[in-house]
Amino acid sequence: MKNLSDLIATFANGIAHSRAALIGALIVTSIFPFLLGAVLYDIIWDMRNTYFAALSYLVLGPMVLIGLSLIFVGLFFFRGKEDVRLFTLTYLRDYFTNPDRFYRMRKLLFVFVFISCTMFCIFGIVTYRSYTYMNTTSFCATFCHMVMEPQRVAHSNSPHSQVSCVQCHLGGNAKWFEKAKISGLQQVVSVLGHSYSRPIKTPIHHLRPDRSVCEECHRPGQFHGDKLEVMERFRPDEQNTSVKTVILLKVGSAGDRSFSPNGYHWHIAPENRMLITTTGPDEREIVMVKFKESTDPEKVFMVKDADKLIAKNSEQVITREMDCIDCHNRPTHNYLSASQAIDMKLLNGEIPREIPFIKRQALEVVNEPYFSQQEAMVKIAAGLRSWYRQNRPEIDVNDDLLCQAIIGTQNAYRENVFPAMKVGWDTYIDHIGHGEEFDRGCFRCHDGKHLNSKGEAISNDCNTCHVILAKDDPNPEILQKIEGR
Ligand code: HEC
Ligand code: HEC
Ligand code: HEC
Ligand code: HEC
Ligand code: HEC
Repeated sequence: MKNLSDLIATFANGIAHSRAALIGALIVTSIFPFLLGAVLYDIIWDMRNTYFAALSYLVLGPMVLIGLSLIFVGLFFFRGKEDVRLFTLTYLRDYFTNPDRFYRMRKLLFVFVFISCTMFCIFGIVTYRSYTYMNTTSFCATFCHMVMEPQRVAHSNSPHSQVSCVQCHLGGNAKWFEKAKISGLQQVVSVLGHSYSRPIKTPIHHLRPDRSVCEECHRPGQFHGDKLEVMERFRPDEQNTSVKTVILLKVGSAGDRSFSPNGYHWHIAPENRMLITTTGPDEREIVMVKFKESTDPEKVFMVKDADKLIAKNSEQVITREMDCIDCHNRPTHNYLSASQAIDMKLLNGEIPREIPFIKRQALEVVNEPYFSQQEAMVKIAAGLRSWYRQNRPEIDVNDDLLCQAIIGTQNAYRENVFPAMKVGWDTYIDHIGHGEEFDRGCFRCHDGKHLNSKGEAISNDCNTCHVILAKDDPNPEILQKIEGR
């Protein structure tokens, strides 16, 4: 007579005989209650702690799965397998062929289906949550903590801090998704093997967001017109004099409805289709630009000897359509220059403006080379204190104002410079604007050296791009007019 308790006994026996199944059973019985607890907690209260989520979904979940697989493999493929297999078969045959027992069999089936469904639900939730969790900003940034620290910090201070890493880096179509996952995997391997480059070099081809990603939220065809920007700066003089630059930026439109393409967003108008050719691994050296404005014949601008440069670097030549990232390469990982960073802190009051020469002195200490952020924090404080002790004895070096200035200066450094990853003040250059000597922003094309067949250059007249209404002026007349003073 074989009944349910015999079946259970045989399975228990089978498990006891197979080491693999025994280990599996131990793992499952010890971990499953915790996993279940964590899943219920997550469903009811929403798990927010990154480490707790990682433990539940990336460690406990897979371990239970491995445990279950071990039991299965151990029971049916290793020592004692004949017992279990034979027993299960005779047991089932017995119950299916005997009409009396078939009723109990239905109950058993019901229990079996119920348990399977519950398991499916739990593992469905675990898999889904593992997937979504791996797509969160905290996962990306926390688990490559040191490596991604510069990107994470800059992201958290940017207008896009609420947009998750994957929304930009894994957005777009499926092909792209796979590419990024593979490259993501390579990166994990290289982080583990410490073989990543410091700083992470840019651009990383697989990480380049697609134009369609930006256009999920922004439509340059839909915003039109120019933008008046007031840039407030501080002079490195005794009073830290505040000066303003007032500039009309010709942002324009990519053209829509009654607006024809103009200004900066003219470059990405659908009818232009600008093709650019770059040589060199960092895609900075643009040697040729081709575009076709509506029905006009194709226009080509190129540097001298473009053909030779292309032939010489043939394996690094890339030709592609110009998109948002050719200008907005730092929409979210935007590191400021030292002077900008100190100005921002003076503007928001983190560094008090009343302290004489604070702009100049803060700039001097943050520009020193340091080996680590900790060293920088200590030496920035010591550097500022010692200068004021020697040159401004009337200022108490433990005064609240100076302490506040020290913290502000330390923050300016901490948010932009990461010695562990060799990210300094000028490592990553924003292509919006005039750039730096080695990476000249808009002047990668508007440099007067990209000529068409008639020898005309892409315009680099100042007023093509903006109208400067005041420059570093303590009290610009134009602002008085605009503000009605
Ligand atoms: C608004 C979109 C956006 C978001 C959100 C975003 N990135 Fe980026 N990321 C970019 C762009 C654009 C680049 C530069 C691509 C290029 O130049 O080819 C970039 C580049 C990078 C690079 C290469 C190094 C560099 O600085 O050029 C890394 C690493 C990176 N991002 C990681 C992250 C991480 C981690 C997060 C989340 C904390 C994140 N990104 C969020 C748009 C984004
Ligand atoms: C999920 C939506 C979303 C995506 C995707 C997105 N952005 Fe944004 N972006 C925003 C929002 C919202 C703001 C305004 C933030 C604010 O002003 O606080 C913004 C602001 C901006 C600004 C103005 C920044 C400033 O300093 O005022 C630029 C430029 C920009 N985004 C470019 C891009 C680019 C380029 C991409 C693609 C790589 C992109 N965005 C992807 C939502 C998005
Ligand atoms: C030729 C370079 C260039 C290209 C290409 C470009 N932009 Fe811009 N964009 C600019 C400049 C320059 C500004 C003004 C920057 C500033 O405000 O300091 C700007 C401003 C913006 C703003 C802020 C507008 C505002 O009024 O504050 C958004 C959003 C934006 N661009 C999105 C995009 C998107 C999305 C794309 C791709 C479809 C794109 N841009 C392509 C140069 C470009
Ligand atoms: C890939 C090369 C390239 C880059 C990079 C580039 N431009 Fe241009 N830009 C061009 C070309 C080509 C023209 C058309 C010149 C002509 O027709 O004479 C143009 C035209 C313009 C125009 C005139 C558009 C109109 O209304 O007809 C403006 C304004 C402009 N660019 C601003 C910028 C700014 C600002 C940046 C940097 C944020 C920039 N460009 C970066 C290639 C480039
Ligand atoms: C190809 C386009 C282009 C040309 C040509 C150009 N600029 Fe600019 N310039 C820009 C952009 C874009 C910005 C805005 C940068 C930003 O928003 O941070 C800018 C910003 C500026 C600023 C303000 C910068 C600051 O941080 O205070 C000054 C001043 C300036 N330009 C002067 C000039 C002068 C002078 C010329 C002519 C010799 C010139 N520019 C030619 C694109 C251009």
